[in-house]
Amino acid sequence: MASVSEVKDEPGQPPALTSLSLAEAAQEAKSKEQIVTPFDVSGGLDELGNPKAIDYDKLVDTFGSQRIDKLLLDRFEKVTGHKPHRMLRRGLVFSHRDLNLILDKYEKGIPFFLYTGRGPSSDSMHVGHTIPFEFTKYLQDVFDVPLVIMLTDDEKFYHTPRLSLKDVYKFTIQNAMDIIAVGFDMKKTFIFADTEFVDGGFAAAFNNNVRELGKRTTINQIKGTFGFNDSNNIAEFAFPAMQSATAFATSFPFIFGTDPKKVAKVPCLIPCAIDQDPYFRQCRDNAPKMGYLKPAIIHSVFLPSLRGRESKMSASDADSSIFLSDTDNQVKKKVGKAFSGGQDTAEEHRRIGGRTAVDVPFQYLTFFMEDDEELERIRIEYEEGRMQSGELKMACTKELQAYVGGFRDRRKAVTEEIRREFMRPRQLVFRGMPAEKELQDARNKRIMTLEEELGKLKNAH
Ligand code: TRP
Repeated sequence: MASVSEVKDEPGQPPALTSLSLAEAAQEAKSKEQIVTPFDVSGGLDELGNPKAIDYDKLVDTFGSQRIDKLLLDRFEKVTGHKPHRMLRRGLVFSHRDLNLILDKYEKGIPFFLYTGRGPSSDSMHVGHTIPFEFTKYLQDVFDVPLVIMLTDDEKFYHTPRLSLKDVYKFTIQNAMDIIAVGFDMKKTFIFADTEFVDGGFAAAFNNNVRELGKRTTINQIKGTFGFNDSNNIAEFAFPAMQSATAFATSFPFIFGTDPKKVAKVPCLIPCAIDQDPYFRQCRDNAPKMGYLKPAIIHSVFLPSLRGRESKMSASDADSSIFLSDTDNQVKKKVGKAFSGGQDTAEEHRRIGGRTAVDVPFQYLTFFMEDDEELERIRIEYEEGRMQSGELKMACTKELQAYVGGFRDRRKAVTEEIRREFMRPRQLVFRGMPAEKELQDARNKRIMTLEEELGKLKNAH
């Protein structure tokens, strides 16, 4: 049904009935509901037409996911023996589906795997892009499980008219190296690019899962879930089956083995930003019909733009985000210009205090600063006006310079050879897969013996 604002008066005709209620029409034209899909993220507009921040509580309700509460976090800590990641502690990873079931299985020693990904839309990643990967690395370390990272270069190609397959593949390689620099364990991590992996002989099992999903997905479902219309191209309609197929262990026989009955029981946990939920809602609907487990999901919020909670980070606006390639000086300049919740003058600030809820440097500290007590001290000092914006920005700059600097060092160590190894379909080593581990140990032993023999031969010369 067309909304009031869409009904246009014909020139030279009496106004349409709907235009008569001017007040109503004006309201409707200005305020806008928030939209969160993989392709469109916006907090909507208020009655005056001003952009609003995303209401995550409302998203949990409309998506029908579960909030991550204190009880679940306590259980997480008990089961894993690890303190929850700062993003969990601070509600930045805030919602889930079936995380409790994953903890049940982990407690019983049943192995599972992690799945996350990225659409390589440019070669300059920013700190907002690495955050879900930082969190995923934490999960990999805590659970000691295999991880599959999907680079959806096909998705970006279908959805971005100006990008060629060659462009996106170039981004894919650069992004893969950046992702590796987050610090993933090579022995437990498989990274693949859709255009490369799916065409290879390794991917027959994967492709069959894509086909099974494709057969069960109607055009109506895709339109409803993603907001597509008849102008979207057919590849965009088909793509969601790709993203879903990766959530099934049977897609990767070289990692999980070839016994379909056994492998179908390996559950999957997907850490992702909440905009990816539509894909996995659909995946969860189809999984039982295919004899598979529904993947569990853990949702994070978005890192706000440097320009404020209401605006978006964009690759074309260098001042909206901190890029992983930024120098210390650039980081300092950008944080200096970031949207502040401080007052206009130092005196007023001392009197009224700063607003941490909208202050971008403070928000960034909640993502990047590990020390809870120091963060709380800063919050109080700032809100009570004893800490000025400049000082807060300095603390934020320091934290981000350390983060970007650490990344820079690790990125330098990522060679083309390392990237190829991460992206080679191969067996992974991890706890809970004893058969595979034994196999790997035996292989490693054999390699060591061979190397020893090689050494002896060399010495003999
Ligand atoms: N569609 C995602 C993007 O555009 C990439 C992606 C694929 C992904 N699989 C995922 C992200 C799983 C999170 C989890 O960035």
